[in-house]
Amino acid sequence: MIDVPELALVALVGISGSGKSTFARTHFKPTQVLSSDYFRGLVADDENDQSASAAAFDVLHYVAGKRLAAGRLTVVDATNLQSHSRAGLVKVAREHDVLPVAIVLDVAEALAWERTGSRPDRTFGRQVLTRMHRDLRRSLGSLAREGFRKVHVLRGPDEIAATEIRYEKLY
Ligand code: CTP
Ligand code: MG
Repeated sequence: MIDVPELALVALVGISGSGKSTFARTHFKPTQVLSSDYFRGLVADDENDQSASAAAFDVLHYVAGKRLAAGRLTVVDATNLQSHSRAGLVKVAREHDVLPVAIVLDVAEALAWERTGSRPDRTFGRQVLTRMHRDLRRSLGSLAREGFRKVHVLRGPDEIAATEIRYEKLY
């Protein structure tokens, strides 16, 4: 059971194949989830066009800001493995006086590799996943310092699958 403020900006953090989109679908309404893939698709007609990431995140941040201004819980489904990408989320949350929260899905690189292998839309090499995994390990040490008010680290598929979310009232 993890506690999430009923109004929060939730950043999912995890390597490709860690199960972020699956987790988001399980626990949140589709409209609460802003996924980087979706926004790449919106701006570039291709969810995998990495050259569209900057434009995609501009729009994602904009939409997140509108949602937070209206008091709506917002979940960002992106790898969020780089401190600079997370900084954009912390900034949007602060601008709207909303708590930024991180939920880290920490799974073994081998499991993620196995999962991504069966996805035709994930064609990167193993070394890309290895780099993501290294970035994740670094991220674990810095999330709290970056301004995330709560950092929930879920370790392994069993703990991830067993997790439930409890919403904390804000007064
Ligand atoms: N998957 C699974 N069992 C889980 C979670 C995920 O079999 N408990 C599978 C999904 O069906 C999917 C793959 O593993 O085919 C990756 O899961 P996904 O949620 O898409 O991972 P993401 O972290 O969203 O990956 P990406 O960053 O590439 O979007
Ligand atoms: Mg995904």
